[in-house]
Amino acid sequence: MKQLIAPSLLAADFGNLQRDSEMLNNSEADWFHIDIMDGVFVPNISYGMPVLKAIGEHAQKPLDVHLMIVEPDRYIEEFAALNAAVLTVHYEACNHLHRSLQKIKSCGMNAGVALNPHTPVHLLTDIIQDIDVVCLMSVNPGFGGQSFIKNTYNKVKALKDLITAQGSTTLIEIDGGVTDKNAKALIDAGADVLVAGSFVFKAENPTQTIANLKAL
Ligand code: DX5
Ligand code: ZN
Repeated sequence: MKQLIAPSLLAADFGNLQRDSEMLNNSEADWFHIDIMDGVFVPNISYGMPVLKAIGEHAQKPLDVHLMIVEPDRYIEEFAALNAAVLTVHYEACNHLHRSLQKIKSCGMNAGVALNPHTPVHLLTDIIQDIDVVCLMSVNPGFGGQSFIKNTYNKVKALKDLITAQGSTTLIEIDGGVTDKNAKALIDAGADVLVAGSFVFKAENPTQTIANLKAL
């Protein structure tokens, strides 16, 4: 499968979300990556439901919603109503991950689990079959524009082995510090979805930058 590109709107121009959404519609981007932060699970607050609703009115591609919040179960139905295609919760934020994933799926969404840089992938051994997308954080979540943590390559390989050993169809997504310097190596290691915020939106030509990532 050709890698999927999921630009993160966290790096978009919030005064021009319609324009930036249309740029993504007309590009080779596959998903819209939406970062929701609560100021508790991570030391930053991004945006919430009204902004997601506004983006959703213009987006013509699946919404990949990454929840960096505590107690994500409280909001699963609301994100389903806002048309999230993938809803990702953090492993570290869920006491009953299996229950959270079943709830996401029962609301008609694909279920994602994100792992912080320090969380080992083997913790997913007994639940990998229930996960549609594993999001490996390659920076500490909370901010865009940070530099890529190189140990992520080892985690992609370990996760790929775990998925293959169980014959699962889980996708591997990489989030944080993705650029043309690491994208190819990540794909070679087994990544299926690349999130890119600053690298796309701060580029002189975002559409071309997306096309370049897609062509790797
Ligand atoms: C970080 C977010 C990322 C972020 C990526 O907490 O989950 O999705 O927007 O931004 P870059 O690509 O700039 O590291
Ligand atoms: Zn994210």
